[in-house]
This record gives sequence, structure tokens and C-alpha cells, in this order.
Amino acid sequence: MKNKIRKICCIGAGYVGGPTMAVIADKCPEIDVVVVDINKNRIDLWNDPDYSKLPIYEPGLDEVIKRCRNNNLFFSTDIKDNIATADMIFISVNTPTKTKGIGAGEASNLKWVESSAREVANYARGHTIVVEKSTLPVKTAEVIKNILQASQSNKNTSDRNSFDVLSNPEFLAEGSAIRDLEYPDRVLIGGDNPAAIKALGSIYENWVQKDKILYTNLWSSELAKLTANAFLAQRISSINSISALCEATGANVREVARAIGTDHRIGSKFLDCGPGFGGSCFKKDILNLVYLSKYFKLPEVASFWESVVTLNNWHQNRVSRLIVEKLFGTLSGKRIAILGFSFKANTNDTRESAAIQICKNLIEEGAVLHIHDPKVESKQIEKDLNMEPISDEDTKNIYNSSSGIWKKVKHLEDVFNQVDAVLILTEWQDYSKIDWKLASEKMRSPAWVFDCRSVIEQKDVIDSGINFWQIGDGSKN
Ligand code: NAD
Ligand code: UGA
Repeated sequence: MKNKIRKICCIGAGYVGGPTMAVIADKCPEIDVVVVDINKNRIDLWNDPDYSKLPIYEPGLDEVIKRCRNNNLFFSTDIKDNIATADMIFISVNTPTKTKGIGAGEASNLKWVESSAREVANYARGHTIVVEKSTLPVKTAEVIKNILQASQSNKNTSDRNSFDVLSNPEFLAEGSAIRDLEYPDRVLIGGDNPAAIKALGSIYENWVQKDKILYTNLWSSELAKLTANAFLAQRISSINSISALCEATGANVREVARAIGTDHRIGSKFLDCGPGFGGSCFKKDILNLVYLSKYFKLPEVASFWESVVTLNNWHQNRVSRLIVEKLFGTLSGKRIAILGFSFKANTNDTRESAAIQICKNLIEEGAVLHIHDPKVESKQIEKDLNMEPISDEDTKNIYNSSSGIWKKVKHLEDVFNQVDAVLILTEWQDYSKIDWKLASEKMRSPAWVFDCRSVIEQKDVIDSGINFWQIGDGSKN
């Protein structure tokens, strides 16, 4: 095995592959890092001279790309050559929930991981360290090893290539990816060959303290990633469940969260009540854990974790039901401003965003939605809602229609025109600075603000003559 890693190739230029490799390139100038993808459009955007066109929005990412791109960081569709010349290959491809076949709705679809492993098997030369960066079910490293080994069995001994497989799950959160990568709580490396483990560990040692780099066996590393996400999501479902109880009893969920969070055994993080967790991973990874538990004949464990997702689905639907109730039982022809469509602030990612289900429910009830989001494109909303927007010219006629419709509003100040209610679904900073006096003049009375992210000062809203509802605050009900 080569002692020094000179070239890394990452398969998958997505929300993980892009930022992770950019930070490795930034911290390790002596290593060439090439991120490859089958999606040419995505690679073109990563190479676009206009940094505002990078395919993902992530604070601080453009600065890192500016420093490294075309120095020691490259984005390419040439998968074959870049695999052939790499000493280490990261697999960072998507692993969504299966929609068909055995395990549909729960197990992860490993199609893209398998095709990546086959590309490595076909093109790698000499000894290559293959690193699982994607989040994978326990024992996936076994599948990758089998594919790599089988690819060599028909070759003469002298022509054979060799491989090590390591697990190195990623713990970054979108919106804070660069900070999370530069100052990680820990880096986790699972594997069995000490030389390969050392080679990967020494890359991180360029900027991560040694005691933050944890070494485990392969299976603990794979399972730890799923478990971390399950624990985080479980905290959100726990606090969201309590929000409903607060509304029913007169308690306030933020006061409850503050009171329990000061107990250092519980801790204060991840106790923000919201419209329900979204993002591409929490639901998928818990469902994966549910599938694994069933597979290993542990039905009680499976149903324990499944309840975290069930609660989240219920919670998202309860928000839209409540709005219908407050607006006199019907939304037909009523206009509602939706503030925020991404699954959290500081990202353009909408995967599994609570906004999708909530907007669908409101449209189903006949509402006219004015959707604002500073980073999500209209095309993405159209895809997520599976419905075309109305154009500005159509607006007047269609406002009289009883079926639900939506349009994207570019400027925040225009979103309030003639709306009956404002619903805050993402905690974008600008939403906490709204001038409610001005907004109230544009809204239709009796107007409502529904704050699902606790970003609004209720006094400002109430003083402007608008009715106010904040998630988990039972003191006003
Ligand atoms: P993504 O969908 O944004 O990106 C995956 C990329 O892989 C796509 O651009 C796709 O075209 C490419 N790809 C698929 N098959 C390929 C192949 N055979 N060859 C070349 N390119 C291929 O996904 P993501 O959000 O970056 O997530 C990737 C993995 O990381 C998932 O397993 C996810 O669970 C995990 N993860 C995600 C996050 C997150 O915040 N998004 C955080 C930690 C871990
Ligand atoms: C999450 C984990 O936090 C990362 O550690 C992990 O690497 C990643 O999943 C992954 O595997 O993909 P991410 O989904 O990007 O990161 O973002 P989070 O900050 O965890 O937020 C997830 C969802 O929970 C968002 O909808 C957010 O609004 C919601 N949330 C978060 C709450 O409702 N309350 C909170 O207190 C925290």
C-alpha cells in the first residue's frame, strides 16, 4: 500500500460530496481532490465562474471553493480516469428509501452505492482505499467488499488490484456544513486494516485534534451514524409531542424546553419545537433502522423507532388542521402567505421539508398560497407540490376559483398583499425582522400569523391588530 495519499476521488457531488471534499482540499493542499458525478448539469454548476450558481447553497462554501477550485479541487464527469488515478475513493452518493420491492418504504435503496462500487471495481488500479461516506445500513461494507473482490477473481494474480473498505460517516448538518466540517465534534472511522485506517486518519489530522478522531470496527461505525440521526430526530418528535400538550394545557413549550434543557443530562440542543423535522436523512435513516430491526427479528425495537416518524407525520398534519380551524373551518379562496419552503434555514434543500406536506394540505382545502423563500427556486416548489404555479396574469381570475393554487413571490414585502394569514415554516433570519405594522396594512382582516418556528415577537404582531398563534404556546389559546 502507498504510504501517502496524493489523490482523492469522491463519487457524488451532492450536499455531502461537494462541501466535504472542498474542506479536505482546503485543509490538505498537497492532495488533489476530484469530485465526480454522473449528473453533468450539477458538475457544470460546480464549475460555474459565477459562485452564486453553485448547485447547493451553504454559508461559507463559496469562499472555500474560491480558494481551492482548479488549484487542488476539481469537479468532473470523467469517472473512469479519476477513479483509475486515485489512491483513495470516497463514495458519497444518494441512498434514498426504497420505493419498490423487498423493504419498500423502509430499507435504503443501495442501487447508487452498488453502481459506484462497480465503477471502482472496473477502473481502480493498484491498491485503493474505498471509503463509505454515504449513510448506509449496517453490513453494507460487506457488499462493497464482495463486489470489489469478485471483480478480481478472473484476473491473473499479477494483474489483480487490491482494496480496503472503510466506513467514515458524515455528521454535517446542512446550513452549517462548513463549520461542522472545519470544527467537527468527532470524526468516525471504522475499519479493520490499521494501515488504511491510519491513511484516512492522517488526512483529518491536518485540522482535527487527534482525540476527536474515533476508531471503531466497521459495523459500529455504520450503526453509529444511523443511531445518531435517530437520537436527534427522536428529541424533535419528543418536544413536538409536548407542544401539542402545551397548547391543550396552557403551558408554553419554550419554557418547558428551557426548564428541561438546563438538566445537563438532557442538554439544551435540539429542543426547538417546529413544524416537524424534514431533510433528506432523518426519516430515511430511522426507517432504515426500523427495517434492520425487523430483519434481525426485533419487532419491539422496530416499533419504538417507527413511532418517531409516525409522530412527525401526525405533527405536520396537525399544523394544517389547526389553521383550517382558526380560519373558520374553510380555506376556499383564502390567501395564505407561506414564509419559508426549505426544510431549515440557510439551505436551498427542500427534501422532506414539512412545508411540502403542509402546503399540499392547505391547497387541498382550497387555499391560495403566496410562497416566499430566499433560496428555493419556483421550479423546485413545483416539483415538490407536483403542481404548476399560477402566473401573475392568471391571479385575478383564479382567486375566485374554489380549488387550491400557489404562486411564488420574489420579494418578502409583496407576500402580504391581501392575505388572510401568514404561516412561518422556515426560520430564515429576515422573517424575524418583519415590520408587522406595515404588513398588517396589506393583509385582509381578521388577519392571522401562525408562527411554527418561534421567530416572531408576539407583541409586535398583536399590537398591529393581527391574531397570533405560536406553536406550543397554550397560554393564548
Ligand atoms: P445528493 O443526492 O445531494 O448527492 C448524491 C450525488 O451522487 C448526486 O449528484 C448523484 O448524481 C450522484 N451519483 C449517484 N450515483 C452515482 C454514480 N454511480 N456515479 C457518480 N455519481 C453518482 O445526496 P447527499 O445529500 O449528498 O447525500 C449523500 C449521502 O450522504 C447519503 O447517503 C446521505 O444519507 C448522506 N448524508 C447526507 C447529509 C446531508 O446533510 N445531506 C449529511 C450526512 C450524510
Ligand atoms: C441532520 C443531522 O443534524 C446531521 O448531524 C446529519 O449529518 C444529517 O442529518 C444527515 O445525516 O443528513 P440536517 O438534516 O442537515 O442534519 O439538519 P438538522 O439541523 O439536523 O435539521 C433537521 C430537521 O430538524 C430540520 O427540519 C430542522 O428544522 C428540524 N429541527 C432541528 C427541529 O425542528 N428542531 C430542532 O431543535 C432541531
